[in-house]
Amino acid sequence: MSEWQKSGWRQKPRVQMPDYLDQEALNAVEAQLSKYPPLVFAGETRTLKAKLGAASRGEAFLLQGGDCAESFAEFSADNIRDTFKVMLQMAMVLTFGAKVPVVKVGRMAGQFAKPRSAPTETVGGVELPSYRGDIINELDFTEVSRVPDPDKMLQAYTQAAATLNLLRAFSKGGYADVHHVHAWTLGFTDQDEAEKYRDMANRISDTLDFMTAAGMTAETTHDLSTVDFYTSHESLLLEYEEALTRVDSTTGQWVAGSGHMIWIGDRTRQPDGAHVEFARGVQNPIGLKCGPTTTAEDLKVLMSKLNPENEAGRLTLIARFGAGSVAEHLPRLIKTVQEEGANVVWSCDPMHGNTIKSSTGYKTRPFDSVLREVREFFQIHAAEGTIPGGVHFEMTGQDVTECTGGVRAVTDEDLSDRYHTACDPRLNESQSLELAFLVAEELSARRAQNQSAAVG
Ligand code: PEP
Ligand code: CO
Repeated sequence: MSEWQKSGWRQKPRVQMPDYLDQEALNAVEAQLSKYPPLVFAGETRTLKAKLGAASRGEAFLLQGGDCAESFAEFSADNIRDTFKVMLQMAMVLTFGAKVPVVKVGRMAGQFAKPRSAPTETVGGVELPSYRGDIINELDFTEVSRVPDPDKMLQAYTQAAATLNLLRAFSKGGYADVHHVHAWTLGFTDQDEAEKYRDMANRISDTLDFMTAAGMTAETTHDLSTVDFYTSHESLLLEYEEALTRVDSTTGQWVAGSGHMIWIGDRTRQPDGAHVEFARGVQNPIGLKCGPTTTAEDLKVLMSKLNPENEAGRLTLIARFGAGSVAEHLPRLIKTVQEEGANVVWSCDPMHGNTIKSSTGYKTRPFDSVLREVREFFQIHAAEGTIPGGVHFEMTGQDVTECTGGVRAVTDEDLSDRYHTACDPRLNESQSLELAFLVAEELSARRAQNQSAAVG
């Protein structure tokens, strides 16, 4: 493989990236960002890689979630806390229900740039460039708002740094202590989910009481008072990514300092394109979205480029086919992975293949389709004898009405009530928990099956 440079992507064909009009302003921003501290530390990305390696072997499970697009306007401590809290609740459901360590990765602290299905948007006969995320341009439908502005990268960096700072404080400062498992139920609006969760929280409290009575002290149970929480985003805006890429002084390898894990989107995974070129050279764990158009040929090339050493935990394949299409596509990609003897984490994104337009005109996702795609993902892995290693989804701690369905059924008519996303529709707290319970059931069924196979 040819030698890698952090700016090497500039020689490759690029898609889904803005054309900045003011080259001088762009250069100045890149120079400034290059001097700023990286947001994450190389050692952390190596630890995450080792944990994902465990997920690839079925010894851990990846839970990756957060906003479709983080926004400057919605930036607040409460929003960060609420999303973090739902991730903790989901992780608790999975750990307790499926008896598996959960690797927690937020789509947070850097998830700003968006690929779009069309370069322009037309409203009332007026055609303007598409909105591409707050790090690039603005959502308002005016000509000025849609001009890409490099200064926005500096604001995104500042917001990412402050977000990560708060996440680190919540993770290590006491908020995430498992003894507070009851406190995380506050704010539940849905009765059924709340019941189910409270019941589990009671059982966890009992277990903790038992452990204390049996002589386990705060020192020996230190691991229960903090969590490890990692950040991730789509590595789309390569000027930003390159500027935050640094050499890890311990290993001499390059590391993307913008987040712990980065992924390549379904629209930017061209084997010879700029995005693959950038990702192949950094040592972070890499996600690769695989959609219905992912061919075996491309996947082979991508796996050898992105994970030439076949390191466990380096590459996560994030399948996003849509409910009803998993059986058509997942087995053929599993076969390719097996033929290559490749180590990968198989993760399921049940969101991006299930986006539809509601009768009321909103972009939505029927929650039933989301659940169905997750079930299909587990079924196929059971049939193939391969390992379902994680889930990837768009959610928020806010009580939004963006996806239809769920126990507290959101209807097409309800969508307008609290539809706040700047991009794709997210699961709300109650829908996220319902999903976690389903995944926990699927994982424990798998465990039971493996155990009986081992005995029989
Ligand atoms: C996303 O994760 O927000 C996204 C755009 O996904 P995909 O590349 O799979 O469409
Ligand atoms: Co999205």
